[in-house]
Amino acid sequence: MSKTCIVTGASRGIGRSIAVALSERDDITNFIIISRTEQGLRETAELMNPSKNVVYYAMDLTDYQAVKELIETVGERYGSIDYLLNVAGYAEPKSLLETSVENWETTYKVNVHSIFYITKEVVRFMKKTGGKILNVASTAGSSPRPGWLSYSSSKAALISMSKTLSDELAEYGILVYCISPGRCATELRRKLAPDEDQSTIMQPEHVGEVVDNLLSDNGICLDGQDITVRKQMFKVSSTS
Ligand SMILES: NC(=O)c1ccc[n+]([C@@H]2O[C@H](COP(=O)([O-])OP(=O)(O)OC[C@H]3O[C@@H](n4cnc5c(N)ncnc54)[C@H](OP(=O)(O)O)[C@@H]3O)[C@@H](O)[C@H]2O)c1
Repeated sequence: MSKTCIVTGASRGIGRSIAVALSERDDITNFIIISRTEQGLRETAELMNPSKNVVYYAMDLTDYQAVKELIETVGERYGSIDYLLNVAGYAEPKSLLETSVENWETTYKVNVHSIFYITKEVVRFMKKTGGKILNVASTAGSSPRPGWLSYSSSKAALISMSKTLSDELAEYGILVYCISPGRCATELRRKLAPDEDQSTIMQPEHVGEVVDNLLSDNGICLDGQDITVRKQMFKVSSTS
């Protein structure tokens, strides 16, 4: 059966890599990729398997009316929505005293509220057939990150949302996954660690591979958990 998959945050970074990796799967025919930047989405579409039907929408996920209209269009056109990958995220790291109300609200609007909203709209369709939802949180959501207050607490909220939804949506045959990447070479990471050598850390393609595996039958019994995806950094001792 031809399945339909929505990937947010697909204009670059981890979202792009996930969309590219999933486009090699046999079971998915239709991809809806979303972010605000059309150019980035177009480039992602060009990297995806050309045999797939890829449609891109440049929109702000915090525009709830636009999200509602899009999901209704997708649900009606394809009949079902089988996969939802909530990858889009925002980070402008600041300490408590430096964080403005605007920064706090934007972080929560993108990292928490918009995921609540798109998930609610998608589940209205997905509950008819069952499906899989995957949220991209962060290791910052489960361990202290001084100076990253709004970002890390928003990711903690997403981890909690994922666990609750996993139980709540089980009755519809919907599996909810949550991954927490460690540091990964993307634009967002560059903001968090401007001086880091990104060639030494996890690459977005590694996360794409993990997600592809999780959403296959290998992912059985891994739903409802906060799964860390991290490249271990080995140090070779000078005496060894
Ligand atoms: N990189 C890391 O080290 C790391 C670690 C842990 C977790 N994560 C998480 O991984 C996810 C992907 O991040 P990334 O590292 O790949 O960062 P990235 O390269 O900066 O990508 C972020 C994506 O989110 C989209 N986006 C942001 N705000 C949006 C909005 N309001 N509406 C629609 N799309 C929006 C961006 O697209 P547009 O700008 O085109 O809208 C872009 O496609 C995020 O949730 C992030 O928190 C990253």
